[in-house]
Amino acid sequence: MEIITEVAPMKAVARATARQGQRIGFVPTMGALHEGHLSLVRAAQQRADVVIVSVFVNPTQFGPHEDFNRYPRDLQTDIALLEREGVQYLFAPSVEAMYPAGYATYVTVEGLADRLCGRSRPGHFRGVTTVVLKLFEIVRPHVACFGQKDAQQLVIIRKMVADLNLDVEIVACPIVREPDGLAMSSRNRYLQPDERQAATILYRSLQHARQMIDSGQRQAAEITAAMRQLIQREPLARIDYIEIVNAQTLDPLTVLEGECLIALAVFVGPARLIDNLVVNVSAA
Ligand code: PAJ
Repeated sequence: MEIITEVAPMKAVARATARQGQRIGFVPTMGALHEGHLSLVRAAQQRADVVIVSVFVNPTQFGPHEDFNRYPRDLQTDIALLEREGVQYLFAPSVEAMYPAGYATYVTVEGLADRLCGRSRPGHFRGVTTVVLKLFEIVRPHVACFGQKDAQQLVIIRKMVADLNLDVEIVACPIVREPDGLAMSSRNRYLQPDERQAATILYRSLQHARQMIDSGQRQAAEITAAMRQLIQREPLARIDYIEIVNAQTLDPLTVLEGECLIALAVFVGPARLIDNLVVNVSAA
């Protein structure tokens, strides 16, 4: 695997690859890689000839009081994992390479970026879309893989790609979970053993929601109230939000119908964890 840390050589390699008629698959990440990330790498490999993975802890998507400084960084382990997967290129730029002094341009997907996670993390999605658009222009991938774990991120990136007429196919990959249901996340590394145990409450609350829907419940407020009640019984957990929205538009739902996204964010100890479930509810 070739490791590239500057923008110009990454562009040169990507342009040369495309000129040779090879399809480029791209997986953007912030590193501290786990099986969730690796599932995206494999999805990219199935759809492309050459796979480029980026590892970049993007400062513009962290709020001033968030975890940018302590976000886990473990590039040596990341390199070993990507080597084992047979990835051809790792793009691991410095902050200065991506945001040189005087950097001033940002991309915002209006509306969608203010909902759900955007409400408790103002500016977060502006940072995400800005860095993803920059990475897309550097790599110019034919296909890019993203995880359903970050459902809102996926909706916003699809919207940016459509609105800006970008020539990249966006592939959504399913959430990879630990055996007890906890969605894999680099932030799970923040959890102490008791917190790690408590963190399963996110998945358990989603399972509970699914059971209610399977039993015929269609009122969003009833489902979120039951989830809230369940999570409040876990002393180490503190709810940020629980919402049921249309999976494409992210518009809040009163009555479940069509593709519904049940999304939640919960603080467990020092970690803010997110999880979600998409349910297809047919009209009665
Ligand atoms: P990061 O949190 O490192 O995630 C990188 C990609 O891995 C995202 O598409 C995310 O949805 C996916 N992913 C994370 N955990 C997953 C899991 N358990 N199952 C499946 N996929 C999972 O998301 C980001 O980085 C950043 O916002 C980024 C897009 C790189 C822009 O900085």
